[in-house]
Amino acid sequence: MVFPVRDGYLDLHPGDSEPIPPIQHLMQFPPVVAVYEGVWRPVGYFIASKHSFPKDVERIASFIQRRHGLILDLACGPGNVTRNIARLAPESIVVGFDLSPSMLERAVRLTRKEGLQNVYYMRGSALTLPFKPDTFDAVTCCGALQLFRDQDQAVGEISRVLKLHGDFVCQTTLGPRTPPLWVRIADRMLKFGYFYLDDLKDRLDRFNFDLKSEERSNINYIFRAAKSG
Ligand SMILES: C[S@@+](CC[C@H](N)C(=O)[O-])C[C@H]1O[C@@H](n2cnc3c(N)ncnc32)[C@H](O)[C@@H]1O
Repeated sequence: MVFPVRDGYLDLHPGDSEPIPPIQHLMQFPPVVAVYEGVWRPVGYFIASKHSFPKDVERIASFIQRRHGLILDLACGPGNVTRNIARLAPESIVVGFDLSPSMLERAVRLTRKEGLQNVYYMRGSALTLPFKPDTFDAVTCCGALQLFRDQDQAVGEISRVLKLHGDFVCQTTLGPRTPPLWVRIADRMLKFGYFYLDDLKDRLDRFNFDLKSEERSNINYIFRAAKSG
């Protein structure tokens, strides 16, 4: 099979074979992609955490312990976290990976504009990562783990492609056991998803991750976990 290079990213998922939830349709809609990095993400993040997104992105990137190897930024969107990691770890190669062509096009454009040389973008699904086992020194995943259709499969794939003792650095959203009605209605419509903290920790444990550090602010949750076996 031949995989095309489109607009500067390698398309490892040609065709639209995977069913996607409504929120993912939004992530492919060009007007949403255009305002995502500057408005949607920082405003949504502030509401969820009362923190500044740009500042937290720098901190999240700094959680990565191994900065000389290959780093996967899973569900990279327009490359907002990817570019930060690439700047912080100029001796690493950073792969930005996402399902949305319009997000990737924007990521490529902004990366070129910033003159970053150590970033590559690929299109594919987090549920079937097209990489060999033990490939990456670190995997980051911000604002997306809760969106995936099958979270066991996604965490299993992250564990598979990470090297032993490699870092999984993640920012995600937690929900209360009994969310208010409006949250349940919105989630049913958009399927934006959230985790219960004990379920998430149990999932990390099942896929051989040791939790190394964690921070919670409101419904926002950031952690670093290392692959242990
Ligand atoms: C909320 S954005 C997060 C973007 C960026 N990481 C950030 O922190 O702002 C979620 C991203 O997940 C991507 N995504 C959703 N489902 C995916 C899947 N199954 N495989 C790969 N990417 C996916 C979407 O295309 C979107 O770009």
